[in-house]
Formats: sequence, structure tokens, C-alpha cells
Amino acid sequence: MSDIVTYAVQGHLGVITLNNPPVNALSVSKGVLQRILDAIKEGEHDPAVKAFLIVGSGRAFCGGADISEFGKPSSVGLSTLPNLVSYMDTVTKPMIAGIHGFALGGGLELALACHFRAALPGTLLGLPEVKLGILPGAHGTQRLPRVLGAARALDMMVSGDPIPAEKALDLGLVDELLKGEMPAAAIQFANRVVREGREIKRTNSGQAAVDGSVEAFFANARARIAKEHRGYPAPLVICDCVEAAVTLPFKQGVQRERDGFEKLRPGTESRSLRHLFFAEREVAKIPDVPEDTRTREIRTAAVIGAGTMGGGIAMNFVNAGIPVKILEMSQAALDKGLGVISRNYAATVAKGRLRQEDMDRRMGLLQGVLEYEAIKDADIVIEAVFEDMAVKRQVFEKLDAVMKPGAILATNTSTLDVDEIAAATKRPEDVIGLHFFSPANVMKLLEVVRAAKTGKDVLATSMKLARTIRKVGVVAGVCDGFIGNRMLHGYFREAGFLLEEGALPQQVDRVIEDFGFAMGPFRVSDLAGLDVGWYIRKRQAATRPAHLRYSKVADRICEMGRFGQKTNAGWYRYAPGSRTPIPDPQIEELIVEASAEAGITRREISDQEILERCMYALVNEGANILKEGIALRASDIDIVYVSGYGFPRYRGGPMFHADTAGLDKVLESVQRFHAQHGEFWAPSKLLERLAKEGGTFNPA
Ligand code: 3HC
Ligand code: NAI
Repeated sequence: MSDIVTYAVQGHLGVITLNNPPVNALSVSKGVLQRILDAIKEGEHDPAVKAFLIVGSGRAFCGGADISEFGKPSSVGLSTLPNLVSYMDTVTKPMIAGIHGFALGGGLELALACHFRAALPGTLLGLPEVKLGILPGAHGTQRLPRVLGAARALDMMVSGDPIPAEKALDLGLVDELLKGEMPAAAIQFANRVVREGREIKRTNSGQAAVDGSVEAFFANARARIAKEHRGYPAPLVICDCVEAAVTLPFKQGVQRERDGFEKLRPGTESRSLRHLFFAEREVAKIPDVPEDTRTREIRTAAVIGAGTMGGGIAMNFVNAGIPVKILEMSQAALDKGLGVISRNYAATVAKGRLRQEDMDRRMGLLQGVLEYEAIKDADIVIEAVFEDMAVKRQVFEKLDAVMKPGAILATNTSTLDVDEIAAATKRPEDVIGLHFFSPANVMKLLEVVRAAKTGKDVLATSMKLARTIRKVGVVAGVCDGFIGNRMLHGYFREAGFLLEEGALPQQVDRVIEDFGFAMGPFRVSDLAGLDVGWYIRKRQAATRPAHLRYSKVADRICEMGRFGQKTNAGWYRYAPGSRTPIPDPQIEELIVEASAEAGITRREISDQEILERCMYALVNEGANILKEGIALRASDIDIVYVSGYGFPRYRGGPMFHADTAGLDKVLESVQRFHAQHGEFWAPSKLLERLAKEGGTFNPA
């Protein structure tokens, strides 16, 4: 038998060991399932074998079905996992799963088809299929409710979150916690099962239990799921299957599961989520920086500037247990910044999400300082001072003078040229951009900006640091706005133009929210505050090309002192203390006037046009970014948008969304907008080429 699954008779046990690194996925094409089946059949006929033990080699039991096989035509073969577990139901010798590390998806379904389950403490057990837009497709929706009851099983499958073995023991999902090393601990348990002649417990009999009325339980569950999982079809289909586990015989429930699985697997939601699964792993890989590149140790950090960003950035470090010194210009600024951090933690403590002693420990790792001398030994320093090149250069000259050799010098600039900042030092190889998003202690995205001379080890260290502080690091090249904000520019531009042409803020926001964003562009602007953008636009006014179209609506709103939610008025009105936007006739009047002033006859604008203008503005610029090498791959852009900008995960990110729509169709729209609206819409060369070749941004 091949190495991918080994089978050996040890005493009375037929021991089947999964051996398909890195996660023992149940790959059909590699023959994993067939080999498990062959081993069982061999053992069934062997009188020496009294029971079977299934274990995983390496770090875990099993990470489930092989996700890379889902999109391939050969994936019809996936039905062999349900076939395997069905076959296991006919086996009369005890089957035991010895679990360590994790048993996820098909891995847990394999274990559920066994008659006994034992796990090492800390092992994670779960059915995370929903995170891939599918449902547990190898009887999980039928067996788990029969073991745990409908309510718990539904929660586990709809959240996709695993539970630790200790909890699984309490709930009866595992029979025992193992002690000692694997596989010896599992072998000991299996031998005990044989010795004691324990009665086989199958998970395919009877029906799942539910407290109270079945109708009421599922009506409530459906209402909750529809609200909490808007846009995602899988959770509701899972609910249907659990209902079948309660109301129908096992076989019919399994059929419902199969139908649901086959309906969901080819859908856009599942394809998008699978794309993101691999994109999230790919994003850490940098083609010319080998994975074994030596990284620098980051034991201490410093942050320059205790403003909005500096405070949030510092919190990330102390949350990860790394001491931080924050440097400010004055004691007053320092006190203010540290006060904000302290109040931030105190609010989390008040909500019961952080213990007081953890807050105290974190605050203890923070130290405010006023002299550069005090930070010179930090392993990394992140500058977050005013967005002004002269100020940044001054700061970097000082850092160059004081910081110890080997320290990483990072800037959090959002628009300035990182090469120019690096040139203020004599060690540009140590300089990198670390572009955090606001609020920096909350937002997952971190653009890691590689300047022309940034050292490979500095880049590798920064990507590793991103993981340490629980961020998703995405490598970006130097340009105005890097990946995310550069693309966003066109999105907001089009949203503004659409108003002048005939739409209203509430229509644009509704279309974007129906598409899946939590908030449309105007609601987001009101939340973030309109004044920041206004100041930037005023600064840029002198250099703005006069021949390009410019919408004055946003400026007019600011001139009225309406800065968004903080002034209870912006694109919308807000009742004091409320965040609910109320469409405002005054703004409608202002927009209609602006149209007339710009000589535009207002027209009916379709929802489809709104969506295409906003989304394809992102896509066309994304294509330019890709062509220029600012992003390493299309899927990195998708990660930027789903982790930093609220792009709906079930659409896979802007570039995947364009691939799904078909690049020929996207180009057709971009060309039409180009003809109507001029140079903002010059089609990206990459988009043109791929559309002509019938290609996609993301490899198919
Ligand atoms: N299939 C294929 N490849 C998988 C995989 C799977 N189920 N699980 C992990 N991998 C790959 C990853 O792509 C990665 O590959 P790379 O090194 O080439 O980038 C490698 O294994 C290691 O994965 P991670 O980097 O994610 O390692 P971690 O240690 O951080 O996490 C894990 C391990 C918790 C298992 C995580 O990989 C994970 O959540 N995997 C997915 C688990 C899952 O969703 N299983 C259900 C599959 S669907 C199913 O079983 C259908 C059934 O119901 C019919
Ligand atoms: P801020 O104005 O809130 O904070 C800047 C802080 O830096 C102030 O506390 C100021 O006293 C201090 N400071 C200024 N010059 C200094 C110096 N020479 N030495 C020490 N401290 C000094 O600004 P904010 O919003 O925190 O922005 C900081 C940087 O982060 C800017 O480069 C900005 O572009 C960038 N950024 C801002 C984002 C945001 O949403 N606010 C998002 C991402 C990046």
C-alpha cells in the first residue's frame, strides 16, 4: 500500500494511518479514500483484526476533503467520501478514531462514522464547510445533530467554528480524552475498547432531538440566520438539512444533504470563498523572497506620534505582548494619546471583553517618551506623524542618527513616496512602509509597502510581524495610495458623479449595500467624517488638472459645516445620538443645483449602472495596479478589499468579481464609460489583453 495511507495490523488492531501532509486532506485524486476503503475491507476479512483504529500522522488527524479538488470536473469523485462513510456503517468490527491536532470537515465526518472517538486535550473538532460556502457533505449534517442535538449542531455548522476536545467530551462528541503521545495513546484506548467488549455506537440511527416545538425552533433559526448571514446561501441550506435530521429517517436526510451540497458547490458564493481560502495563504508568499529568508527579531517597538494612528498601532504591539515606547512632541500630546488608549481599553473591559488585569498588563507595556535617545534600542520603529513630507523626512533623519544598527524604520504614510522618505536616511534597506488602517487596533489589513531599496529580510520580517500582531499583511509597491486607497479613489469619484447625473445618496448606498457592502460610499463618508477629505482636496486644488471633471457637491456640504455623523449632518441627517441616516431634502436640492451648474440634465440612473460604475472603477484601476507590479497578484488585491474595505467575501473581492462577470463584459462596460465620460475610464491594457484572450485576472 502507498505511503499516503498506511495499514498495519498491531495486535488485535487494524491501524489505518492517514499520511497526506500537510493536513492529511482526504484527496480523491491521490487515492486517499480508496486506500482507506481497501484497508477496511482487508481488515474485515482478517480474523486477527478485532477492531480498526484510524489515526493521522504528523501534526493532526485530518483537515477534511481536499479543497483544491472542489472546482475540478473530476470532483464528481468527491462523492466517494459519502460512499466511504456509508460503507463504514456496514462494518461490524468496532471502528475507533484516535484524534489529535484537528478533525475538520470531512475529517470529523470520518470520525463521526467511527463507533468510538477519543482525542488528545486541545484537539479542535469542527465542521467549517460553511466558511467555504458549502455544507458538510459526508453525512455531517445528519450525524452531528444525532450526537449533539439539533441546536448545538446547527450552531457549530452555521458558525463553522471548531470546539476543543474538552468541550467535545462534555457534549458527548468524543468518548474520552487521551493521555500521552500519539499514536500510542490511541492504540491504548482502542485496545481497551476491544478488551472491554464495548458495544458499537452508530451515529446513523434514530432522529436528532430538539427542545420544544420543531416548527418554532426552525422558524426562529431561519429568521436568525437570514439576518446574521445576509447574502450567504449555505447557512439556510444547512438549517434545512438539520431539520431533516430531526424529522426524516437518516437515508432521506442524507439525500437532502447531497442535494444541498451539489447545489452549493458550483455557486458563486462557494467559488468566491474557496478562492479567498487559497488567496489568504498565497498572500504571504513573495516570489523573490524565499520562505526561509532569515528574519530579524522583533522584541521591542517604538511608535512616533500618539495621534489617531500612532495610538492604535501601539495597541497592536502591546496586545501581542511586545513592549512599545511612544514618542511625542510634548507632554500634553503624550498624555492625550495615552489617555485615548487607556479609555479604549477601559471601554473593552466595561463590555466584559477584556479582563482588568490584562488591561493593566497591556498599559504596563506602554511607555510615553519625549526624547529620541529613549527609543534607540527598539527593534522596529513606526512613524505616524503628520502627513507632510518635510516633517517625515526630519523624523527619519533623526531616526537614522539614533536607532541601533539593524532596527527596522517604518512609515505609516498613506499617500507619500516611501522611496523619498527612505532617501532621508543612509540606510534605505531598513526602511519600509507599514500602512495600517483606521482604527489601527481593529482593522485586519496591513499594506506592507516595499520601497525600491527595502531589504528582503526587512520585508520578510514585516510580513511575519503582521501575523504576530494578527493582521493580514499584503505586499504593495510604492505609488500614490498603494493598492487599496488608489483604487478607492475611482470608486468615490464615480459615486459623486452619479449624483450629479441623476442619482441620490440613498440610491447609490442601497445598490452598494444590496451588493453586500455593510455601508455604501456616502454612509461610510458620514461615519469617517467629511472634513479630512475636504482639507486634502483644498490642498490639492491648485494642482488639479483644470480639464478634468470635478464634482463640487462634497465641498459644498462641508462648507455648510456638515462633517457627517459627528455634526449630526453630512450626506444625510442624523437625530442626535443616532447613527441612522435620514435622507435630507436640503442635500437633494444642493445636488440638483450642482447638476444644473455643471450643465448636466438629470436622468434616471439604473441600479446596474451604479453598480458597474462603482465596481468597474475599482477593477480597472486594480488591473493597472497589477500591470505595474504594485500588487503581486490579483488575489492580493481581493484580500486587500475583503479585509480592509468591507467588500463582501461571498463575491471573492473585486478582481474575482470581474472574473466571475467575464472580462469581455467588464471591458465592454469600461469602453462604454470611456466613450461617455472620458479619460478617467481609459481601459487598462491588462484588462484589454485578458478580455481579448478570454483570460481571467486570477488563474482559473
Ligand atoms: N484541502 C486542501 N488543502 C488544504 C486543506 C484542505 N482541506 N487544508 C489546508 N490545506 C493546505 C493549505 O492550502 C496550505 O497549503 P500551502 O502550504 O500550499 O499554502 C497548507 O494546507 C497548510 O494550511 P494552513 O496554512 O492553513 O495551515 P494552518 O496550520 O494555519 O491551518 C487548518 C490548518 C486549520 C487545517 C486550515 O488549513 C484550515 O482551516 N483548512 C481548511 C479546513 C476545512 O475547511 N475543511 C473542510 C474541507 S471541505 C470538506 O471537508 C467537505 C466535506 O464535508 C465533504
Ligand atoms: P494625527 O494628527 O491624529 O496624529 C499625528 C500625531 O503625530 C500628533 O499627535 C502629533 O502631535 C504627532 N507628531 C507630529 N509631528 C511629530 C514629530 N515630529 N514627532 C513626534 N510626534 C509628532 O494623525 P493620524 O491620523 O494619526 O495620521 C498619522 C499618519 O498616519 C499620517 O501619515 C497619515 O497619513 C497616516 N494614516 C492615517 C490614517 C487615518 O485614517 N487617520 C490611515 C492610515 C494612515
